[in-house]
Amino acid sequence: MLSLMAQFSIAVIAGDGVGGEVVPEAIRVLDRVTKLDYTYFDWGSEYFLHHRRMMPADALDTLRKFDAILLGAIGHPDIPDHITLNGLLLPIRRAFDQYANVRPAFLYPGVASPLANAGPIDMIVVRENTEGEYAQVGGFLYQHQPEEVAIQTAVFTRRGVERVVRHAFELAVRRNKKRKVTSITKSNAQGFGMVLWDRAFAKVAAEFPEIDTESLLVDAAAMNFVRRPASFDVVVGSNLFGDILSDLSAVITGSIGLAASANLDPTRKNPSMFEPVHGSAPDIAGRGVVNPLAMILSGSMMLDHLGLAEAAKSIERAVATLLADGKIRTPDLGGISSTREVTDAVIAAINGNAHVH
Ligand code: NAI
Ligand code: MG
Repeated sequence: MLSLMAQFSIAVIAGDGVGGEVVPEAIRVLDRVTKLDYTYFDWGSEYFLHHRRMMPADALDTLRKFDAILLGAIGHPDIPDHITLNGLLLPIRRAFDQYANVRPAFLYPGVASPLANAGPIDMIVVRENTEGEYAQVGGFLYQHQPEEVAIQTAVFTRRGVERVVRHAFELAVRRNKKRKVTSITKSNAQGFGMVLWDRAFAKVAAEFPEIDTESLLVDAAAMNFVRRPASFDVVVGSNLFGDILSDLSAVITGSIGLAASANLDPTRKNPSMFEPVHGSAPDIAGRGVVNPLAMILSGSMMLDHLGLAEAAKSIERAVATLLADGKIRTPDLGGISSTREVTDAVIAAINGNAHVH
């Protein structure tokens, strides 16, 4: 089953805080199922404290040569978040046109949802990842004066909306589950960008007559993620709405420590990036108790993207086995196990499941 030569080269940025703890654990698991070529970059907040930038000036050119990027987390208590985010994460997403941020939310058997009677949750939030509210267009007037003014412009392009909506529909077809796409909007109050969003959604939806559609205002969507989470399949939203709702979809499936994500350039012209939804979690960093499963499942999404579907599945099955078993879990899931013990158990489950085959 193991291939002898690495077919793919992976750039690894462990980043800050718990990123440095979960990334090596994910690679231990990946090593068990396939051989990839890893190159490590020490970019992030420590790098910033020495060089006054989050990554070198030629970092994007360096990354461009890789088949994929594996990222831990970025964020440091002593550095403003807009510096860390705009110094590393957002430039990578934008430079490589990773316009679809794909965030599955699956309630694993054996894991308790904080919702009573949640039912089976199996949905994917697809978040627009390059424009919208995070386009970073705007400015200050009278900066730091009492009469200071800030303007932050959201940018919606027909091309940008159509392509992410199309990705959502293609995903609904491929998943072949509820065959439904929900659009998140706010066109009642935002009469320009969100109206373009609605029109683009309707146009793309017409190309997929076999897929059911639904359009929800973002506030109603927040309510319905809690009230009827089992009704969702693929959900597509703008950068801001998708960001917020995917934290909600993550927590209703038990813990943000389980939430994986992919920043995809579906055209495959550029490397895609795989990272857990969670941040650097400074409150628990350095204690060996962070849940590695979000990072491990992000690694599995990377394998799937690279075409190593069977290896990806074997990781997912092992995680499901471990969670159903319920004995070994980190504190965020109510357990007392360490990060390392959870990873060891995933590897043991891969070995065990392999025998069953
Ligand atoms: P966070 O996701 O780091 O932590 C939120 C809460 O969830 C914390 O109580 C944390 O302990 C817990 N948590 C997160 N991941 C966990 C895991 N794998 N296992 C167990 N518990 C886990 O979000 P927060 O605290 O808002 O941000 C911390 C820093 O991370 C900030 O600097 C922020 O800007 C950055 N951040 C970076 C992201 C990224 O790199 N993509 C995403 C979100 C935040
Ligand atoms: Mg977020």
